[in-house]
Amino acid sequence: MARSALLNVMVNAVSKAGRSLTRDFGEIENLQISLKGPGDFVSQADLKAEKTLRDSLNKDRPGYSFLMEEGGIIDTGSDHRWIIDPLDGTTNFLHGNPFFAVSLALESAGQLVAGVIYNPITEELFTAEKGRGAFVNDRRMRVANRSAMDECLISTGVPALNKRGHGVALFQQRNIMVQTAGVRATGAAALNLAYVAAGRFDGYWEDGLSPWDVAAGMLMVREAGGFVSEPDPDASIYETGRIVAGNEVIHGKLRGILNKPLPDGFKRA
Ligand code: IPD
Ligand code: CA
Ligand code: CA
Repeated sequence: MARSALLNVMVNAVSKAGRSLTRDFGEIENLQISLKGPGDFVSQADLKAEKTLRDSLNKDRPGYSFLMEEGGIIDTGSDHRWIIDPLDGTTNFLHGNPFFAVSLALESAGQLVAGVIYNPITEELFTAEKGRGAFVNDRRMRVANRSAMDECLISTGVPALNKRGHGVALFQQRNIMVQTAGVRATGAAALNLAYVAAGRFDGYWEDGLSPWDVAAGMLMVREAGGFVSEPDPDASIYETGRIVAGNEVIHGKLRGILNKPLPDGFKRA
């Protein structure tokens, strides 16, 4: 299947960043046993991958704005904005666990128009373009069509050590795990969304996320026929960092559970 010119530009950029991450991932095993550990090395790998993405995108599409996890905002005044997470799943990467990805999205006049998520270790490339569907390695993706919660495998994320919201995350997990076939906290938000689009997870929810964690994946789930929202109908994902995704039925059921009142004193992420 022929890719659009835009997707070629994006795939080219994530492939280069993926090569750099793969090389660095190969070093992690040696660093695990070193006294200093792999922390600083991983930060450098992250920054290097982001620079690779930025350079490649700037070369192919000069003048676009950027929102990057590491480098922040570059506002050129352009209508187009790249949203970049060079390494989603940093903690997994640091532990030599290959569940991580590069996530890249493009917004045009504030609308998501394309998203690419790439795991360079499994060499799975997830792509989506607005109105043109979602694909994994050029195979069309569709969200799963289960509607019975007790058959569903649901993914989530748990707040890191230095974040708030641990009590809320446990409360929500309990409410969801008692109704479903399983809950998985995988450590890579972008891949969770790509896996919902691919029908490998029936649903996903998480609190405390940033635009670069979810931009590409949101478009992907929608283009695969699924639903993504902030559980609160009056709030927006980018503002609160809360997200829930799934097919129409499971998305609705998860929202119902997530909107249950929290116990007294619980603070959100
Ligand atoms: C993190 C991962 C993780 C999620 C965190 C994110 P990072 O991104 O997506 O799954 O639970 O909230 O910050 O730091 O690995 O890019
Ligand atoms: Ca991330
Ligand atoms: Ca990151």
